[in-house]
Amino acid sequence: MCGIVGYVGRRDAADVLLDGLSKLEYRGYDSAGIAVFEDQQIRVAKSKGRLLDLQKKMEEEGKPAGHAGIGHTRWATHGEPSDRNSHPHGGGSVTLVHNGIIENYKRLKEFLLSQGRVFESDTDTEVVAQLLDYYYEANNGNPIDAIIKTSRELEGSYALGVVFADFPDMVFALRKESPLIVGIGEGESFIASDVTAILKYTKQYYLLEPGEIAVLSHRETKIYDQHYQKIEKELKTADWDVSAAEKGGYEHFMLKEIFEQPTAIKTTIAPRITDGLPDLSECGITPERLTGFRRIHVVACGTAMHAGMVGKYVIERLAKVPVNVDIASEFRYRDPLVGKGDLVIVISQSGETADSLAAMRLAKSLGAETLAIVNAKGSSIAREADMLIYTHAGPEIAVASTKAYMVQIAVMYLFAFELALANGSVDEAECRRLTGLLQETPALIESILAHKDRAQQIANELITADSLLYIGRGLDYALSMEGSLKLKEISYIHSESYAAGELKHGTISLITENMPVIAVATQKRLFDKTVSNIKEVKARGAKVVLVCDEAYVPEKDVADLKFGLPEFDDLLSPMPAVVPLQLIAYYTAVLKGTDVDKPRNLAKSVTVE
Ligand code: G6P
Repeated sequence: MCGIVGYVGRRDAADVLLDGLSKLEYRGYDSAGIAVFEDQQIRVAKSKGRLLDLQKKMEEEGKPAGHAGIGHTRWATHGEPSDRNSHPHGGGSVTLVHNGIIENYKRLKEFLLSQGRVFESDTDTEVVAQLLDYYYEANNGNPIDAIIKTSRELEGSYALGVVFADFPDMVFALRKESPLIVGIGEGESFIASDVTAILKYTKQYYLLEPGEIAVLSHRETKIYDQHYQKIEKELKTADWDVSAAEKGGYEHFMLKEIFEQPTAIKTTIAPRITDGLPDLSECGITPERLTGFRRIHVVACGTAMHAGMVGKYVIERLAKVPVNVDIASEFRYRDPLVGKGDLVIVISQSGETADSLAAMRLAKSLGAETLAIVNAKGSSIAREADMLIYTHAGPEIAVASTKAYMVQIAVMYLFAFELALANGSVDEAECRRLTGLLQETPALIESILAHKDRAQQIANELITADSLLYIGRGLDYALSMEGSLKLKEISYIHSESYAAGELKHGTISLITENMPVIAVATQKRLFDKTVSNIKEVKARGAKVVLVCDEAYVPEKDVADLKFGLPEFDDLLSPMPAVVPLQLIAYYTAVLKGTDVDKPRNLAKSVTVE
């Protein structure tokens, strides 16, 4: 939620800040703003709407010119999206940008009001600016003292980029919960919510720990702890390429990321397969460590939760260990029956989703072991889990997740195979066969991507619909959930997913003439049963799009349109079968003219409850 950047160096600060914000817009795009030191004075430019709106405004009003500053792209929490509520916010000598939520802002605001301070916005962030300025004044203008005192008062989550009018060309930063990195280039330094914002300039960065304070100036970058002691930190190197955060000729990041899936799978699974068998030792996970769990819980949000649904089917079928899948925001508040002997798997692309992080902390406090499956290196979930498997999808920019989901399920397969082998519920030959099939998925997906035009034709038939249903059984039901989410989040067409056998218990009453129903039928052993359910909706006028084996030729009473998939094993079919669902959602949104990569009201990294 929200992205922040900061820069000190020789370049034009506004350009660097705007460029960095463009990489962080996936974190929210309700408003954007920058503050730059121009002739030793802080000059702010901000606007409701996208970064483009801010750029237009600056073309008319002039761009702040200088070599140091801070920037922000917002996903509104406190206060409606408006110019007034846009960051940066100020208070006296202080101007700052904030990612996170200050939970005790009301109490702090009351105190500040009692001190005669006047507020200009409805945000929790302005309270931080005013409080900082209050301590700054009380401490005879010492910024670090003021920062330390302020941070002791703040409850909630924050990553802050701060400038003080009396300290031109210096940027201060600190964090708690919300992520923040400090980038180090040649004679220049940066702060950013995410490494993608600085990749164009440098790959070297520090991970700022909670409570640490970074001070960027033209001369050097210093990091202090809460006792005002200077500390030395390990400089990290990003292994993501700058091109990974660019569109590379594709019309949208989402399409590029759909096409990157074969490579992402290979990069993710290759280091975890030895001699044709799963081998998670690279992640410090041995078969001994995996066996003996009486139950597994998968906890995640959104698409990552759907990856957990696939994992449940596969782990239960192969490893014979019961698996619960929970939405993280539900898990954390329902007194879950979790404890010693349980394994809690947290799946997260960003590794920063507030509910998933809190659910993992709860599980740990209850005595469970935790395993994180995370894409963003060094993120909070990755750092706090007992065991960790990184997915190697590279940066995912489109808000609608595709390649991150794909590698999450690839890892769930590897995990299930290794667990099943360790448990003895699958023998070595079968495990080898399954691992071999997993290695075949990238080529299979390439062959499906070659038929993207078919998805486009199908999308043409969907754009006039007000509402859609996705149906399937077993693993196909798990996939339907993901297909439906993809479509609704980017095309804004209402859509629901249903277990095909459950329709007749209520939902079938929604079917009207020509209502599209996307039926996923890849499970051979359930195929006839799914076809019976499809006929039930078809008989009531539905327009059925069937995703199934290409060899199957549906009769008129079964489907109107078909997306054929190459013959493949039932258990691993979700990996290829999700691709047409992603493409159908993508092309439907494109044809409807929505903002595919940045759908309304959403943000990619949800660091608030
Ligand atoms: C947001 C995103 C989804 C994502 C979910 C979980 O809602 O829009 O695409 O699946 O958060 O995010 P995570 O980073 O934990 O996978």
